[in-house]
Amino acid sequence: MKALTWQGVSDVRVDEVPDPQIQDPTDIIVRITTTGLCGSDLHLYTVLAPFLDAGDVLGHEPMGIVEAVGKDVTELRIGDRVVIPFNVCCGDCWMCGHDLHSQCETTQVHEYGTGASLFGYTKLYGQVPGGQAELLRVPFGNFLPIKVPEGPPDDRFVFLSDVLPTAWQGVEYADVPDGGSLVVLGLGPIGDMATRIAQHRGHRVIGVDLVPERLARSRDRGTEVLDLDQHDDLAGTIRELTDGRGPDAVLDAVGMEAHGSPVAGIAHKLTGLLPDKLAQPMMQNLGVSKLAALYSAIEIVRRGGTISLSGVYGGAADPLPTLQLFDKQIQVRQGQANVKAWVDQILPLLTEDDPLGVDSFATHHLPLSAAPEAYEHFQKKEQGMIKVVFNP
Ligand SMILES: NC(=O)c1ccc[n+]([C@@H]2O[C@H](COP(=O)([O-])OP(=O)(O)OC[C@H]3O[C@@H](n4cnc5c(N)ncnc54)[C@H](O)[C@@H]3O)[C@@H](O)[C@H]2O)c1
Ligand SMILES: [Zn+2]
Ligand SMILES: [Zn+2]
Repeated sequence: MKALTWQGVSDVRVDEVPDPQIQDPTDIIVRITTTGLCGSDLHLYTVLAPFLDAGDVLGHEPMGIVEAVGKDVTELRIGDRVVIPFNVCCGDCWMCGHDLHSQCETTQVHEYGTGASLFGYTKLYGQVPGGQAELLRVPFGNFLPIKVPEGPPDDRFVFLSDVLPTAWQGVEYADVPDGGSLVVLGLGPIGDMATRIAQHRGHRVIGVDLVPERLARSRDRGTEVLDLDQHDDLAGTIRELTDGRGPDAVLDAVGMEAHGSPVAGIAHKLTGLLPDKLAQPMMQNLGVSKLAALYSAIEIVRRGGTISLSGVYGGAADPLPTLQLFDKQIQVRQGQANVKAWVDQILPLLTEDDPLGVDSFATHHLPLSAAPEAYEHFQKKEQGMIKVVFNP
């Protein structure tokens, strides 16, 4: 089959690789019809390079048609239409039983001390072949796949794999009180979807980014937006807009590659250039995240408010202002999305009325062969690329 493979820093290619096979009796094989490109894939493109091998297949936002089932699969048949959550999780362990699917005890990666395995996401997360491919092996076929109805276009459902549950969890964790306010930092796919969900729940939402199309897209859906480049004192500006106190919550949908973090930028470049043997311990022992967004979240949120981190941070010793966190009495809630925990709440919103605008959420539909250029443009935020989906 054809698949998008990682080859090195800022180097991905479409290659012929062996077709995946059923290995366990509860595996299924899915023929991928639509598969997303995610801000998380950009971390692989650069900063997480020490944890990838040339040839690794990327991608964790796929959906498609069941092509084959193992002999113990009872919940699905060949031909069913399924979306695959990005967490590889069993459904049977203590963590899955507590809706903490991103911590699944069956698939945790003990070698690196990390949580549940993820599709297409480095050795830190199990080095499981990903979904930017024509075919995908999916374990736990009786639990993991989300069966969706025939009829509506793929775009109606494909964001259940990651964007929708991640944004949903981000808003849940922000814990905004009735009539309260939420600042969303970053208006990429995750931040954009979070503003939609928060508005749907009746919260006041202020979005912040610096890419004109991203600001415009959120403004067009009724979000108040602020251009990071236009405000030297972002926290001060937001305080003025929120009774002088700051918002009840801030959702950081930026993560470790934030704009405006010069020192960590050097660490990023270094980890990309060093041999893996040197770079891995450096990543695991030093601060490498660009913390601009997290620092501004700490400054912006009102005293006693909540910071919800959807953005991914990856340095093991990144410096944090613990005095300010404690003194302002800030709650911090975070983590990979527990996809399966939120699906039942989200599905009723994926209707013809399309309250969250999923049908028109993708800005680009491309063949898989266009993936290498798409990674580059998406990373540079060129060509109005906000959400790309591939149709293998
Ligand atoms: N928790 C999870 O389960 C989960 C799932 C998916 C994605 N993520 C993470 O969420 C983050 C966002 O993902 P995405 O797909 O929307 O990515 P993205 O890179 O497209 O979006 C990030 C946005 O933040 C903006 N930005 C950069 N610096 C900023 C700053 N200092 N202040 C405000 N905005 C700033 C960028 O211009 C960009 O529009 C990434 O870190 C990704 O890894 C987490
Ligand atoms: Zn994703
Ligand atoms: Zn589990």
